[in-house]
Amino acid sequence: QKQDDYQLMENISRFYQQQLKVAQDKNIAVDYLKSRGLSGQIAKSFGIGFISDQWDGMMKAFANNRNVTQQLVDLGMAIPGERKQPYDRFRGRIMFPIRDKRGRVIGFGGRVIGDGTPKYLNSPETRIYHKGQELYGLYEAKLANKQLQRLVVVEGYMDVVALAQHGINYAVASLGTSTTPEQLQTLYRTVKEVICCYDGDRAGRDAAWRAMENALPLVQDGISLKFVFLPDGEDPDSLVRQQGQQAFEQILQQATPLSQFIFDKFLEDNPANSHEEKAALVDQLQPLLNKMPDSIIKNSLIEEMASRFSITSEKRLIELQKRSQQPT
Ligand code: UTP
Ligand code: MN
Ligand code: MN
Ligand code: MN
Ligand code: MN
Repeated sequence: QKQDDYQLMENISRFYQQQLKVAQDKNIAVDYLKSRGLSGQIAKSFGIGFISDQWDGMMKAFANNRNVTQQLVDLGMAIPGERKQPYDRFRGRIMFPIRDKRGRVIGFGGRVIGDGTPKYLNSPETRIYHKGQELYGLYEAKLANKQLQRLVVVEGYMDVVALAQHGINYAVASLGTSTTPEQLQTLYRTVKEVICCYDGDRAGRDAAWRAMENALPLVQDGISLKFVFLPDGEDPDSLVRQQGQQAFEQILQQATPLSQFIFDKFLEDNPANSHEEKAALVDQLQPLLNKMPDSIIKNSLIEEMASRFSITSEKRLIELQKRSQQPT
């Protein structure tokens, strides 16, 4: 008889956690976690584990018959060998269990200890793991907060865990460079305030823009989307470790609102000086407005646009508002 997928994944997660205590080479993992500033307690609350660098560390413990072996392949935990038996996907890594919002283990992320590539290995899409729909740390954030008010979206596993280590236990990771529409929907089903805080590099800034575009259809009165832009080369983990909880929460407090982000980016990309340039900019902003449902936020965006680009004629403003209300 077949073990439930979720039960099997939970058992594997416990096995990885236990390896942190019993593996022969556990010290390299424990020392690594310490070097990243993580306490045993935080590691435990995220279920962080370890697997030694062998071909079959996990398989030896779980694959006791053909059915389970196939199940482990299906769940992305084992890779079918061409001639040999399926072998462990994750080897010699720190293991982060990814839970769905009900707390069931659906996949893993594994980090190499020290340098090595790939730095992170993730579960592939499986029948229980759909990457674009899940948020790493959401279950843990809900568990830690009776009344979640806001969520901070970061890029990486380590960012979520390091923030929690410093008392900021309301961060989630999007598990890919950009935050998908489905993830944003999940976020806004949970809280009204979302702050995107990606890495301070080109990729992070691009991810912020894509998240903004994905969020536009969801923007309505009463909810907010803000952005934090970290200094180049920093990420939430490095910053909170350097500066601590208070400084980090101060940075969150000063996050850039949606409208300011849009205007700043547009003006940075094309400094509008002439009247013609301003008019062209307004036309470029139109597709973004078209993605938004009607709301007070949208109207104030239009008004702000009018004042920033000195659209003085009332006729032009009304025309803008009308155009942006047409179904796309
Ligand atoms: P980063 O490269 O910013 O990693 O990727 P990080 O979380 O700061 O890693 P540390 O601090 O060196 O441990 C951010 C996220 O992108 C995904 C992972 O989810 C990672 O947490 N990623 C990154 C991968 O899936 N694979 C990779 O090889 C690298
Ligand atoms: Mn899928
Ligand atoms: Mn990065
Ligand atoms: Mn990073
Ligand atoms: Mn990092």
